[in-house]
Amino acid sequence: MRVAVVGLGKLGAPLAAVLASKGNDVLGIDVNPNVVRLVSEGQAPVEEPGLQELLAASREWLCTSMDIAAAAEAEVSILLVPTPSDQRGAFSNEFVLAAVEEIGRGLRGGDAYHVVVVGSTVMPGSCDGEIRGTLERLSGRIVGESLGLCYSPEFIALGNVIRDMIEPDMVLIGESDARSGDVSERLYRGVVENDPPFRRMSLVNAELTKIAVNTYVTMKISYANVLADICERLPEANVDVVTDALGLDTRIGAKYLRGAIAYGGPCFPRDNKAFAMLARDLGAQALLADATDAVNVAQSHRLARIVQSLLAEGAAVGILGLSYKPHTNVIEESAGVALARILAEAGYHVHLYDPVATDAALAAVGGVAHGARSAAEVMDRSDVVVIATPWPEFAELPLNGDGEGPIIIDCWGVFRSSDSGNVIRLGRALAQKSPSGAVA
Ligand SMILES: NC(=O)c1ccc[n+]([C@@H]2O[C@H](COP(=O)([O-])OP(=O)(O)OC[C@H]3O[C@@H](n4cnc5c(N)ncnc54)[C@H](O)[C@@H]3O)[C@@H](O)[C@H]2O)c1
Repeated sequence: MRVAVVGLGKLGAPLAAVLASKGNDVLGIDVNPNVVRLVSEGQAPVEEPGLQELLAASREWLCTSMDIAAAAEAEVSILLVPTPSDQRGAFSNEFVLAAVEEIGRGLRGGDAYHVVVVGSTVMPGSCDGEIRGTLERLSGRIVGESLGLCYSPEFIALGNVIRDMIEPDMVLIGESDARSGDVSERLYRGVVENDPPFRRMSLVNAELTKIAVNTYVTMKISYANVLADICERLPEANVDVVTDALGLDTRIGAKYLRGAIAYGGPCFPRDNKAFAMLARDLGAQALLADATDAVNVAQSHRLARIVQSLLAEGAAVGILGLSYKPHTNVIEESAGVALARILAEAGYHVHLYDPVATDAALAAVGGVAHGARSAAEVMDRSDVVVIATPWPEFAELPLNGDGEGPIIIDCWGVFRSSDSGNVIRLGRALAQKSPSGAVA
């Protein structure tokens, strides 16, 4: 199929590469000339495992352009442009509408059937509202006639984007009409390798499902973090034991039920805010979304309190892992960066290291922390070290069993045993440990 992917960022570049690798004739479009140049040279414009190899291998099926209107020449155009949160927490359609205007202009005068698929996360009501209106106005066509409109979000986790696109739990298609949904389904059936269920529905139901998935998952995370906080205060309690059993109940399920620290990244935090705002705007209650968000914000303060219970102000704290999760350099809303800010503000010397995100984190905290070139350097300089992101290399850190060296706060259980050395696993009754030379 001839497909245009508009927006070659963290999602668009992998999707363009995946579609091309499946033999589709793909036109990748972006407004950023550097991104377009990189993709045209077969170079990954974003950090994502496997993307570089896939782009290089599928170059013959992937062309690039900065001309958004050229998307109209394809049978399907998929929009993966940013939808940043506005001041109220709603997703802004500004860039989606800018792209839709150009595609609409490109479609004007032609009569070949074309489907616009919105993949960006949008507020429910957007597709059948201003996006449809803009598309019809600029193209001079009517959705449902020679034009189709679909909403098909990707359910991916950064660091695992390509696998998640090829083996999704489900494919969600919101459709203006059956013909446009048929075209989208045919396209995505050619991508997936695990025979997932397809769910086709109205545009608004699909928009709501996308946000509902993320807000439900974050509710589970916040719930597990409340359990962890309780376990830390309850003698002999262990959150991993509790969540392991809890997750066996099929009504609950084990995924994302892990007591640790705050969730972050470009989606989870803002999806809750948008969901709460949507509920309020409609006159519905937003208690669950508000609570999920409030619990999450409290997690970095919970972690800071634990550090402060071990160390007096002015001592040295190391933070290992600043990206919001392993295998990505994205630091947006990351727990490590939030902790660095809180501890630096409270008067601690904060040392930072991440395999790929140290410089970005230093810039984000604005000069109040010190960067290190390795995890070992952070260990040498610090009285307490917090492992905020479970990068696999941190599991190799040498543990000191004789009470020397820093206390390590292991937020994610990267060490198999917390009995050895000076390791504190979050979510367990906090033992009295004291770093050498520090005030406990
Ligand atoms: N990143 C994620 O984990 C994730 C997960 C699910 C959904 N989403 C959603 O997917 C969408 C895209 O997210 P992303 O992380 O890939 O964004 P991104 O910022 O990484 O990439 C967006 C790309 O779009 C380009 N762009 C901006 N305006 C454009 C325009 N008018 N025409 C063409 N290109 C344009 C930018 O130059 C950039 O390369 C957003 O709505 C986001 O909320 C993201």
